[in-house]
Amino acid sequence: MNLLEISDLHVSYDGIKAVRGIDLSLEEGEIVSLIGANGAGKSTTLKAVCGITPVHSGSILFEGEDIRSIPPHMLVKRGISLVPEGRGLFGRSTVEENLKMGAYSRRDKGIADDLEKIYALFPRLLERRSQAAGTLSGGEQQMVSLGRALMARPRLLFLDEPSMGLAPIMVQKIFEIIRTVASTGMTILLVEQNAKIALSMSQRGYVMESGKITLSDASSALLENPQVKAAYLGQ
Ligand SMILES: Nc1ncnc2c1ncn2[C@@H]1O[C@H](COP(=O)(O)OP(=O)(O)O)[C@@H](O)[C@H]1O
Ligand SMILES: [Mg+2]
Repeated sequence: MNLLEISDLHVSYDGIKAVRGIDLSLEEGEIVSLIGANGAGKSTTLKAVCGITPVHSGSILFEGEDIRSIPPHMLVKRGISLVPEGRGLFGRSTVEENLKMGAYSRRDKGIADDLEKIYALFPRLLERRSQAAGTLSGGEQQMVSLGRALMARPRLLFLDEPSMGLAPIMVQKIFEIIRTVASTGMTILLVEQNAKIALSMSQRGYVMESGKITLSDASSALLENPQVKAAYLGQ
């Protein structure tokens, strides 16, 4: 059974069709890329699965169960975490407060240990634990957003444009951390306009154009695909 199985998903905003009948699946432990130009419908797809944007039609199965009517906070509890486009931090709250918010739905005793693990993964955040998140650099904010998502102990992690707006050196750093997270066996759907880096670290990829999936293949094959090269790799 796939961990996530999206079938014929349609999502509209006030009659504007943003997602037009897509099929997408993720097996446990896979890293899968979803690439496509600005406005293709990538973020809308993630938001629909997370219960943030209403689904018009189609099905979304998580561990075989239809999750369309489950509210976002319950989906977090079930194990679906989103690192949203633009990071979505509470700018006036400290780094540590933001990280702890990621664990708000948990009632177990492992939260303090997990916080230490996040600080081990992001030593920079330990140094800045008492600093207001809004005063961090873009890369540091991305670390907080990723750390906060991990604090929910997700089974399925959605990353929406983690490289957006970051300097090249910081992009490398963020992707190194994503690789480390992936090596723990985490299932990841990576949405990126930076197709090259996304495909280089995923096993499979989907290409989205105007609300539809136009290509789906092994990432290595997509990297060699002439259409993908021309449209997304600048080659
Ligand atoms: N909140 C919204 N209200 C109305 N239209 C939206 C909203 N969010 C996105 N859209 C539209 O839906 C389409 C897909 O957007 P989006 O999912 O953000 O694309 P991507 O993440 O691939 O850049 C675009 O045409 C965009 O303008
Ligand atoms: Mg987007």
